[in-house]
Amino acid sequence: MKRLLSGITPSGDGSLHIGNYLGAVKQFISLAKTHECLFMFADFHALTTVHDKQTLQKNIEELILNELALIGDMPHVYFFRQSDIAVHTELTWIFNTLTPLGVLKRAHAYKDKLSKDASDDEINVGLFTYPVLMASDILLYKPDIVPVGKDQKQHVEIARDIAERFNRRYRAIFPLPEPYISEDTAVIPGTDGKRKMSKSLGNIIAIFEREDVIRKQVFSCFTDPSKRHVNDPGHIEGNMVFYYLRFFGEPDEVNRMEERYKEGRMGDIEAKEYLYQSIFRHFDAPRKRYETLKHRPDEVRRILERGTAKAREIANQTIEEVRHAIGLKTVYSTTKQSCDEYITIDDFLHVKQQVGKVIDANYPEKSDRLIRLTVDFGDEERVVFTAVRQYGYTKDDFVGKQFFFVVNLLPKKMMGEESNGMILAVEAEDNKPKFLSAEGFPLGAFIR
Ligand code: ADP
Ligand code: TRP
Repeated sequence: MKRLLSGITPSGDGSLHIGNYLGAVKQFISLAKTHECLFMFADFHALTTVHDKQTLQKNIEELILNELALIGDMPHVYFFRQSDIAVHTELTWIFNTLTPLGVLKRAHAYKDKLSKDASDDEINVGLFTYPVLMASDILLYKPDIVPVGKDQKQHVEIARDIAERFNRRYRAIFPLPEPYISEDTAVIPGTDGKRKMSKSLGNIIAIFEREDVIRKQVFSCFTDPSKRHVNDPGHIEGNMVFYYLRFFGEPDEVNRMEERYKEGRMGDIEAKEYLYQSIFRHFDAPRKRYETLKHRPDEVRRILERGTAKAREIANQTIEEVRHAIGLKTVYSTTKQSCDEYITIDDFLHVKQQVGKVIDANYPEKSDRLIRLTVDFGDEERVVFTAVRQYGYTKDDFVGKQFFFVVNLLPKKMMGEESNGMILAVEAEDNKPKFLSAEGFPLGAFIR
C-alpha cells in the first residue's frame, strides 16, 4: 500500500470549517481508501504563533476531535502528535545545515509576515525555519504523496529541494515527495464571496458548531445583490450559496434550483435553507462521532497511542539511516551489529597487504587503460594489472619502485591473463589515484 502523510497545524482554535474540509480533509478521506495514512497534528508548528499554554492545549484537543470525527478510525490510518516524535527536531537541525538562507527568505510564510505587520525583530526564527521543520515532517516518513492546500505547495517543493541536497551530499536516503493538490477545490472562498475562507476573517461555515451558529453562517452567505425580490432573475456566478451547493447539494436538485433562481422563480431564503439542510446531512455522521468521542477520552488516547507507535517506528528507522549517512554514528565499534555498510577491525585484518617491487611493466594490446606490472614480493613474483593510464601514468612511474599491494584477493581475469593482487592507491581531490610509496620497507613485509 502506498503511503500518505499530511499535517494540520492547530493554530486557529483547532476547529475545522468547510474550507478546511473541502481543501484538505475531503482529499484525506478519499485517499485513505487506497493509502496507508499518517495524519499529524503539527503542534511544534503551532508554537510559531500560539504562545499560551491553555490555548495550545485546547486547540490541539479540538483539532484531534475534529479530524478523528471526520476521517474515522481505520486499521491503516494513523493519527499522531508531532511533538510525541522528538526526532522531528533532530532532523530539522540536520536539514538546517544544508538549507541555504536564500531558500527560506523566499518562502511565503516568512515573506507574508514580513509584508504584513512585522519587522525582522518581531519575527521569530521558528517562523522563518518553518519550511525546514515541515521538510522533516515529510521526509522522516518517506511518503508517496503529501496532500496539501495550494498555500502549502511551496513548502512541499522546499522539502523536495532539501531531500535532493541531502541525497547529493550524503547518500540517497530520501525519495522526492510529491505534493497532491486537488485543483477544483484548491482554495475555497469564504461566505463574503471575496476572500479565502478563514477563521481569522470571520467568513467561515463551521462543521461542529451548534446548529443555530451554523444556520446563521449559512444565512450570511453573499448571493446576488441585484436580486432584491423573490421574482427578480438572479445570478449564479459569484453566488456563494450555489458555489457551496455544488459540493453539498444533490446534483439534479441543484440544477433545477439554478434554473429557477435564474428565471426569478426562487428566492435566497429557499436556496439558503436547502444549503443548510444539505450541509447538515453531509456532516451528520461526523457530528455524531464528534459527540461520542468528546465523552470518551480513553478512546481518543488509544487511537493516538496506536498512531504514535507506528509513526515512531518509521521515524526512528529513518533517523538511524540519516545518522549513519552523515557520520553521527560511531563506526569503530567492534560489535558486528552496527551496519552492513561498515566492516569491523577484525574484518579489516583479513586484508593481507605486502610490500612489492615492480620489476617490469608493459602495455597489454587492445587496452588503452591497463598497465601490466610484474611484481617481486621477495619469495615469489606475481602479475598485477592496474587501470590508470587514463590518468596519465606510464610504465616508468612504476618500474624499479616499491609499493603496497593487497595480495589475498581472488585472481581476476584481465586481457586473457590472471591478475593476482591489487596495487594500493588513495584517491586525491582531483579523482586521480595516488600510489602509496613503500620505499625503505623490506621487500615482502606484511602490514598489520
Ligand atoms: P486557516 O487558513 O483557516 O487557518 P489552516 O491554515 O489551519 O486553516 O489550514 C488547514 C488546512 O486546510 C490546510 O491544508 C489548508 O491548505 C486548508 N485550507 C484552509 N483554508 C482553506 C480554504 N479556504 N480553502 C481550501 N483549503 C483551505
Ligand atoms: N504547514 C501545514 C499547514 O499549515 C501543516 C503541516 C505541517 C504539514 N507539517 C506538514 C502538511 C507536513 C503536510 C505535510 O497547513
